[in-house]
Amino acid sequence: MSSARIRRMLVTGAVGQIGSELTIALREQHGPQNVVAAGHRTAPSPALRDSGPFEFVDVTQKDDLEALAIKHEIQAIYHMAAILSAVGEARPHLCWDVNVNGLYNVLEIAREHNLRVFCPSSIAVFGPETPADNTPQETVLRPRTMYGITKVGGELLCDYYARRFDVDVRGVRYPGIISNVTPPGGGTTDYAVEIYYEAIRHRRYECFVREDTVLPMMYMPDCIKATIDLMEADAKRLKHRADYNVTAMSFSAGELAAEIKKHVPEFVVTYRPDPVRQAIADSWPQTIDDSVARAEWGWQPSYDLAAMTSDMIAELGKRHAEGNL
Ligand code: SER
Repeated sequence: MSSARIRRMLVTGAVGQIGSELTIALREQHGPQNVVAAGHRTAPSPALRDSGPFEFVDVTQKDDLEALAIKHEIQAIYHMAAILSAVGEARPHLCWDVNVNGLYNVLEIAREHNLRVFCPSSIAVFGPETPADNTPQETVLRPRTMYGITKVGGELLCDYYARRFDVDVRGVRYPGIISNVTPPGGGTTDYAVEIYYEAIRHRRYECFVREDTVLPMMYMPDCIKATIDLMEADAKRLKHRADYNVTAMSFSAGELAAEIKKHVPEFVVTYRPDPVRQAIADSWPQTIDDSVARAEWGWQPSYDLAAMTSDMIAELGKRHAEGNL
């Protein structure tokens, strides 16, 4: 397993919710030319396109992905390309193809070229039989969604490549991620992002999960920190590989609405649960035990619900006032 310093890296899924901000953060740390952003079809934002190299690639096409890694002398891949849970239920075959075959290609390229890999997992690996409160690191993984199944398979595949082929692969189980730069694309936790945009834009939001739905969440700056900190952690300290529980906060949809109303008093939220996404949310944990990540690589979030909400409202409010929302 290579412990050489990582200089040149590739971010797949770079146009997505996490990938877009991760790419910019990595470019600030490592120099813009050292961080190649790769998207599938969606055009990158000017900020992403103009701040460093950008390529289009389909992660299910191994030869194309490998050619890109060779061309840019890539040493690490942040593999953020994935189909999320709600889209995964609408298009399960696509979800399997992108999430499983795409990861397999990344791991094969990593094995052949000695690359480090970050592969995100998710709270979607858990299911109705998993303890929902303070969900432990080692627990029942029997998800009901195709997305969750691909993420459990992905964790096991990453562990296998680490053990069998000495590939330095790492990953966390992200909770719902809240951000204000790129909207998420078809996840179950998207309501926790949309609600902020609608609070600023229209002062109204119809929420697609029940008011009492509680899920684990994290603000994007903490998500970026978790991702980069784990990738840069001393490999000798890591007893786990691609399945670290991480969380920052848990709240119900109603508590989230109440926190936003402190900033936008006239904000009105109604609840109309969407059966598919409500069932997914009900099958996921409410709170997560992330003590293993804290012990092995020093994970520590900075934002709670109040701090995140102040920041989200300030940022979106500013953009709205400028006519950019
Ligand atoms: N936020 C994701 C989703 O809702 C979970 O990983 O699909």
